[in-house]
Amino acid sequence: MKPRTIPTFPSHAIILLVIALFLGSCRTEPIATYSAEKRGEYAHAAVVSGHPLASQVGNDILEKGGNAVDAAVAVQFALAVVYPRAGNLGGGGFLVYRSNDGSTDALDYREKAPAAASRDMYLDSLANPVDGLSTKGHLAAGVPGTVAGLAAAHERYGKLTWEDLVQPAIELAENGFSISETEADRLNGFQEAFLAFNTNECPFIKELWQTGDLLIQSDLAASLKRIKAKKAAGFYQGETADLIVKEMQSGNGMITAEDLANYEPTWRQAITGNYDDYKIISMPPSSSGGVALLQMLGMVENAPLNEYGFHSTAATHLMVEAERRAYADRSEYLGDSDFYPVPLDSLIDENYLQYRMDDFQPDSASTSDHLTAGNFVNRKESFETTHTSIVDAEGNAVSLTTTLNSNFGCKVVVDGAGFFLNNEMDDFSIKPGTPNQFGLLGAEANAIQPGKRMLSSMTPTIIEKDGQLFMILGAPGGSTIITAVFQVFINVAEFGMPLDSAVFAPRFHHQWLPDQIWVEPTALGEEVKSELSAMGHQFRDVNRMAVIKAIQRLPDGSYLAVGDPRNPDDDVSGH
Ligand code: DON
Repeated sequence: MKPRTIPTFPSHAIILLVIALFLGSCRTEPIATYSAEKRGEYAHAAVVSGHPLASQVGNDILEKGGNAVDAAVAVQFALAVVYPRAGNLGGGGFLVYRSNDGSTDALDYREKAPAAASRDMYLDSLANPVDGLSTKGHLAAGVPGTVAGLAAAHERYGKLTWEDLVQPAIELAENGFSISETEADRLNGFQEAFLAFNTNECPFIKELWQTGDLLIQSDLAASLKRIKAKKAAGFYQGETADLIVKEMQSGNGMITAEDLANYEPTWRQAITGNYDDYKIISMPPSSSGGVALLQMLGMVENAPLNEYGFHSTAATHLMVEAERRAYADRSEYLGDSDFYPVPLDSLIDENYLQYRMDDFQPDSASTSDHLTAGNFVNRKESFETTHTSIVDAEGNAVSLTTTLNSNFGCKVVVDGAGFFLNNEMDDFSIKPGTPNQFGLLGAEANAIQPGKRMLSSMTPTIIEKDGQLFMILGAPGGSTIITAVFQVFINVAEFGMPLDSAVFAPRFHHQWLPDQIWVEPTALGEEVKSELSAMGHQFRDVNRMAVIKAIQRLPDGSYLAVGDPRNPDDDVSGH
């Protein structure tokens, strides 16, 4: 791509159009104060996760001689206890791995559609989507992948015993832990939904949760003990499987004993690409994260972003236009590559990305209604949400994102087993042209089929510089995950920010449709917003977007670990 020059607008530019849509619960007060509390510098090894107790479990495992994968497995089980809104046994996720010799791997343990699922299962007789059916209650759940995924990761790379990795979570569930202010707020906020979908007693329902209350989860401890004893079979067969099936039958759910017994995670080749002297290693489909990230980086690579400056009109306009194009392609071409021929190599082909930006106008916004997915001749055959970042003392790195989708998933707790089920079915395109809960659209590539994985935006990523580990990052945050990973990396690589500033900095987001730039409070100065408006961009204020957890290897070989103040529970640990 040729470098582009983008004129800076004069401050007195006439505002042609300002359309700011203030939707639903979006608020405009500042995000939690950005502070230096969520950072740590460690000589040997580091863990960043969504909860201090989980980060501590990870560091304990590393200090016991466990490697990054051991720590990742133990942190995930701990999160299933201390971070029930997203940490899980009843969800799924993705793990990207880079060993200290530079070899890479990627594990897809995303949930799958049950065998009885069908394309129109969330539509009424008039083919209209039934409100809430794909997001709440038993029918919203996909077949969970987490336990099978963690067992597969341990089997391939683990060093400590499986029992060592599950035990800390059992203790947290059995003895209880004091809940944080955020967790108390969430549990209170979702009481009504819990009551609507759970007729039996469950430990998450209480008249009023307060900060510091003890949350004891005995049924979950028993489920974890079965997993400790029998690995994946302790979840997908026997008592836990029976409890899941019983729960499904009690609420019109679809997951059967066969669905559970048949669930397998899939090892994939990590998707890789270069940006200047960095190598990006990320997640291929069934996540869209890696593809879209490489597309956006490829579309801005040859522009002098560092000359434009952080959140300048020129840099923001260019990055927004790259984001718009990547999300348009996502909606058309991306889905589970085991079911749909995703043109992976074509989508990240340098020539294609150059062509994709051919209609980029330096001084005016594209309109999403006129800019659809790119057309290409399939150039090559395709070969094919809480986040945790970990590096161990040997330099092996894990970047892992897991989720139940919404907070507490479909809100159903498996009676007697003590964990929430996901509502990941909503990540499918339930009908062409109908947005999912993140406003994302999809097409044939992401239509529902039995056994298929729903498309994800999760972007667990590892970055090398000059052949050496440079950064580990990822985030929860639905559709905004990919643009957050993109912008944090650009903040470091182009705008020269230290990692903590790069993570704390406010962000913007464009996902093709709706055709608007989402902006966090203080993200773009008023003057820049005016200039972008004059180009035809529209804005929507949002309180906060994705929540990054990142580790950077510093020049002296030590690690800077950074959590994100957007989630007050984010915390770092290490030694
Ligand atoms: O896989 C996805 O893209 C979504 N299910 C992720 C959900 C998410 O990040 C929610 N967290 N804030």
